[in-house]
Amino acid sequence: MQHTLASRRNSLADHLSSTEQLHSEQLLQLVRAKIEAAGGWLDFQTFMDLVLYAPGLGYYSAGTHKLGAGGDFTTAPEISPLFSRCVAMQCVEVLRQLKQGSVLELGAGSGVMAVDMLREFEKLECLPERYYILEVSADLRARQQALIQQQLPQYLDRVQWLDALQADFVGVIVANEVLDALPVQRFCIQQGGVQVMGVSYTDAGLCWQPRAADDTLVKAVRAIESNLLFSLPEGYCSEVNLQLPAWIGSLGDSLQRGAVLFIDYGFTQSQYYSVDRTRGTLSCFFRQRMHDDPLINVGVQDITAWVDFTAVASAGLAAGMELEGFATQAHFLFGCGLDRLLTDMSEQPDEIRWQLSQQVQKLTLPGEMGESFKAMAFSKDCNLQLSGFAFRDLRDRL
Ligand SMILES: C[S@@+](CC[C@H](N)C(=O)[O-])C[C@H]1O[C@@H](n2cnc3c(N)ncnc32)[C@H](O)[C@@H]1O
Repeated sequence: MQHTLASRRNSLADHLSSTEQLHSEQLLQLVRAKIEAAGGWLDFQTFMDLVLYAPGLGYYSAGTHKLGAGGDFTTAPEISPLFSRCVAMQCVEVLRQLKQGSVLELGAGSGVMAVDMLREFEKLECLPERYYILEVSADLRARQQALIQQQLPQYLDRVQWLDALQADFVGVIVANEVLDALPVQRFCIQQGGVQVMGVSYTDAGLCWQPRAADDTLVKAVRAIESNLLFSLPEGYCSEVNLQLPAWIGSLGDSLQRGAVLFIDYGFTQSQYYSVDRTRGTLSCFFRQRMHDDPLINVGVQDITAWVDFTAVASAGLAAGMELEGFATQAHFLFGCGLDRLLTDMSEQPDEIRWQLSQQVQKLTLPGEMGESFKAMAFSKDCNLQLSGFAFRDLRDRL
């Protein structure tokens, strides 16, 4: 088993270029120093935070090519501008009902969604007062600025990058595939108790090491079991996002009036912690290949966990917001008018229409992103009718 793991690790590591190897080695030195300083062990959440966001070295903070066809993973805005146009239409609906407001995009990746949304706002003659971006990665922030400068220089003064959430925000907060990038805690059930999975190292490299969980994690796992009405079985491993309530709480505090829209891959809690899903949802992406070993390729691969939308809903309600809707990505996009966008393009050449139909299939087919990705919206201090949830609203499943 050890041998198999070592060979698999080598075969994945073999793909690193010399620059990637150097970068990964530098981050590994930092990880080892942190492990040593912490007495030989780091809990997984701290490890994930470090390898994704350590300034200048973490996966999102360093200059590796992450998103799009030539990167490690592809997101909906990278697949098609139709996605961002639909999200923009949903934002316009809210901005018109509020009669004022701005848009705040969290974690804007390459900046392509901001560009396509701004184009759609212009077309619909409903430009937000400001288009704010809150991005934790300095590298991605620079890329976003360069893209907007190149594609929409006329709107550069309307786009503003924030270092922190503002107080009294009025408008729409949008986050596509950000929740899945937040560090999670990994746990396993052993002899009926909850163990927290942590990371240590030996001469062979980083390795998993369990410890008895602290009160916070035990309470979180027991609360999940109490919602599920059964105990998770012996040997069961999964993740829980302990930062979620505080993170969504800060969005609720910042929002004075308006809406928050999350789109991400995820499940309801009963699906997330289904007894069959014994190894959790942690996934790593390296050059469009998915695997489940976060302890290799540190700094040059993405690490994500699926989103527990029942926990997101609870956190939103606890933050003083109303839950406005929960739908699959396919239903959400069609509710926002994806089919109208396609009809408007019926005059386009065959080649373009073929490309668009391929993109729509990726975004909406159940075997692609249509069902595994979900949209969830909250409101605060306003009455909203959101078209994105008009087709099918799954709130009763949460
Ligand atoms: C998987 S990428 C998605 C990028 C983009 N939204 C898209 O759909 O293509 C995750 C993004 O969230 C950012 N991010 C991670 N944690 C964040 C946080 N706490 N606040 C804001 N952005 C964050 C990352 O730097 C990155 O831009």
